[in-house]
Amino acid sequence: MKFFVDTADIEQIRDLAATGLLDGVTTNPSLVAKTGGDFFEVVREICALVDGPVSAEVAATDVDGMVDEGRTLAELADNVAIKVPLTWDGLKACRALRQDGTMVNVTLCFSANQALLAAKAGASFISPFVGRLDDIGQDGMQLIAEIIEIYGNYDSIDTEVLVASVRSPMHVLHAARLGADVCTIPPDVIRQLTKHALTDKGLDAFLADWRQTGQSILDRDAP
Ligand code: E4P
Repeated sequence: MKFFVDTADIEQIRDLAATGLLDGVTTNPSLVAKTGGDFFEVVREICALVDGPVSAEVAATDVDGMVDEGRTLAELADNVAIKVPLTWDGLKACRALRQDGTMVNVTLCFSANQALLAAKAGASFISPFVGRLDDIGQDGMQLIAEIIEIYGNYDSIDTEVLVASVRSPMHVLHAARLGADVCTIPPDVIRQLTKHALTDKGLDAFLADWRQTGQSILDRDAP
């Protein structure tokens, strides 16, 4: 499963990119607004830090506006993926931008039928929002299972399932178990993935025992 980070914060992206774990980045207008920076500059900087797809979302809601904005954003870097909402006009814009050869991420997906439409419109990625479904008492991961099942039924579909609105390590675990192509994860949740109480406890015990030996690995002259 590919790991994208779900943020527009350059410092967070720089830090995570250094681990070699990052396969891409997703942003949205809310995440860009949080940075307080210029949208184009933010997108350019992120694209220079990460080799994989960087999602940048259009703000227009009509097809012509979305296509114009998408084409403008696509000029910022080769690895920009244009994010369009899962609306009728968004699907038409998806088709047009894909015909240009631009990657398209269809976002705000909350049903398997919507995901089927995005695939038929040629989307590169479909972004089902699991956390927001959980928030209203529905099962977000069940939607991922349905989409993976449906896409698996048709060889002609090559849209990647990008699990979005991830809130916890359990979402990441379930996404991987279901075989999702991509999971876009907030920075703090990516860091939580390393955590286990027994890892910390075990390391403390090993270090305490090591200190008892009085040895140093690098300084071989130490007593
Ligand atoms: C990513 O593409 C989405 O915009 C993002 O995951 C939404 O997450 P949220 O529901 O936590 O805002």
